[in-house]
Amino acid sequence: MTLTELDRVEVIVGAPAHGGHCVARHEGMVLFVRHALPGERVIAEVTEVHRGYVRADAVEIIEASPDRVPAPCPWSGPNACGGCDLQHVAPSAQLRWKASVVQELLARFAHLDQVVRVEPLPATVGADGQPDTGWRTRVRYTVAAEGRAGLRKHRSNEVVPIERCLIAYPGIRALPVLNRTWEVDAVETVAPSTEPAFVVTDPARPIVEHAAGHDFTLAAGGFWQVHPAAAQTLVDAVLEQLAPKAGETAWDLYGGAGLFAAALADHVGVTGQVTLVESAPDGVAAARRNLAQLPVRVVESTVERALVPRRGKPARSSFRLQGPVDLVVLDPPRTGAGKQVVTAVAASGARAVAYVACDPAALARDVATFQGLGWELAQLRAFDCFPYTHHVECVALLLPARS
Ligand SMILES: C[S@@+](CC[C@H](N)C(=O)[O-])C[C@H]1O[C@@H](n2cnc3c(N)ncnc32)[C@H](O)[C@@H]1O
Repeated sequence: MTLTELDRVEVIVGAPAHGGHCVARHEGMVLFVRHALPGERVIAEVTEVHRGYVRADAVEIIEASPDRVPAPCPWSGPNACGGCDLQHVAPSAQLRWKASVVQELLARFAHLDQVVRVEPLPATVGADGQPDTGWRTRVRYTVAAEGRAGLRKHRSNEVVPIERCLIAYPGIRALPVLNRTWEVDAVETVAPSTEPAFVVTDPARPIVEHAAGHDFTLAAGGFWQVHPAAAQTLVDAVLEQLAPKAGETAWDLYGGAGLFAAALADHVGVTGQVTLVESAPDGVAAARRNLAQLPVRVVESTVERALVPRRGKPARSSFRLQGPVDLVVLDPPRTGAGKQVVTAVAASGARAVAYVACDPAALARDVATFQGLGWELAQLRAFDCFPYTHHVECVALLLPARS
């Protein structure tokens, strides 16, 4: 049977898959169904047709899962704001959902039978002293044609007008953004850890974030972990996995404003040395400023260019990162580090690598590359840095396999 857009079919929903949906089957066709839960019987409405599969929304729940809850946000659900995929899932079941996705990706790409547990982060506390659902300290609202700011529908440029975003940090929710009109395409907001939230009119404006015993000054538009507890949580996990010792050398690859480099430098001390590699000029400028008093060398380069020899072209002006090194932190963007970078890191002589990953599929592919080079996944921790969405942050410890 072929399915076309807006067709409705009754299905029994299977396991969650990466991307915020569950897998279902109907007469040989695979459906990726949003707004559903494993085990549910639902009416799924087709939203997109592709070769071999369709995307669909659960528009009627015939038999509900015990993990289903009424969505706390009235603007979530089919045909509404696309920001959250898991508003209908009980918080404890969100953790199980994400764990099963990470587990399945590691099995599929790296043939690992790894038990994964997703750890919650401390909840935000609102102005009333009560736990608050708002964790996003950076929110980018899109402005619709009539000038109202809102959030986009899933896989669409259409802007959904909202009155409030439940996952926005309380200080961001209190900003006068959604109750007026705008003459710009987008409104960026930020809630730094050291000052009240504000609307970003100049992305270069410096802000100060505090984590791991250090202040980090960076551009308001620069990269920083979005959940207020994420930076500290990830530093703690990386330090626990790597156990850096005085006098050791370390690379902080994709180093941003210097979060991991500062923590590593505290441990390797002045007899050690940390090298941070970052390609974004604003990140490099921030790292140079933030790490000036620490034994850290900051290199402006792509990681690929710094690590991977380019055939035929002698690296004249470009910096070349040479091993041996004791420890490596890898914290790439969603695309992952990729084969060439992993191969160079595996050959660096490092005794341990901590891989911080915002995309578990890219992580699983890179873990498989490490395995092919004689390394093993020694520990995997996963953190719920993005509640109510399908996103999950992982910190993986990779070690050269003992021969
Ligand atoms: C996930 S962020 C991590 C930043 C930092 N480790 C932190 O935790 O704050 C990834 C960083 O890699 C940088 N980046 C992206 N592609 C890069 C590349 N090919 N080479 C070097 N840095 C890159 C981005 O500018 C960004 O700062």
